[in-house]
Amino acid sequence: MKNIIAFAGSNSSTSINKQLATYASSLVSETEVKVLDLNDYELPLYGIDYELVHGIPDNAKTFLDLIKSSDGIVLSLAEHNGAYATVFKNLFDWMSRIDGKLWSDKPMLLMATSPGGRGGATVLDIAKGRFPYMGGNIVGSFSLPSFNDNFSDGKITNEALNNLLLEEVAQFKQSL
Ligand SMILES: Cc1cc2nc3c(=O)[nH]c(=O)nc-3n(C[C@H](O)[C@H](O)[C@H](O)COP(=O)(O)O)c2cc1C
Repeated sequence: MKNIIAFAGSNSSTSINKQLATYASSLVSETEVKVLDLNDYELPLYGIDYELVHGIPDNAKTFLDLIKSSDGIVLSLAEHNGAYATVFKNLFDWMSRIDGKLWSDKPMLLMATSPGGRGGATVLDIAKGRFPYMGGNIVGSFSLPSFNDNFSDGKITNEALNNLLLEEVAQFKQSL
């Protein structure tokens, strides 16, 4: 059976992106899903001086190993001021010091959501532009706008938006 990892680019204990990543990954049939939480992989703030003195922290290596041992990645990015949330950018930067192609060509379903009407579309575009240079193999993407109006009890409640996600999930599943 294929195994995938799902996580959010957020460290909020109530992360809406983690809720979306959990839901989307549950739609991938006949697949083992490991939902990860960035709070379990704490890292010091990236800095070249820190790296020169202490080296690369184990949690960056551990997370990269989880990517490399998976068959696919479901990731939903939180948007902070039109960009990656700090916790995600920090992990991303640390992992890139080990392997510039950190996404390792694993099929990726890339998403974002926010309470706003753009649903994290700005950070999604940033990631879509950058990840392909870093081993990213984005086979599906989805933005859920107005999270609080369109998601409840662990599911997307808007049928049209749910159907769009199902199409992206089907493409992702096919690529595994
Ligand atoms: C510092 C900060 C900046 C934010 N900037 C944006 C933004 O640029 N666009 C947006 O749609 N939401 C923005 N938000 C709202 C987030 O989308 C919202 O907090 C969301 O819950 C974050 O996702 P998460 O729950 O998965 O952490 C911001 C929130 C914070 C705390």
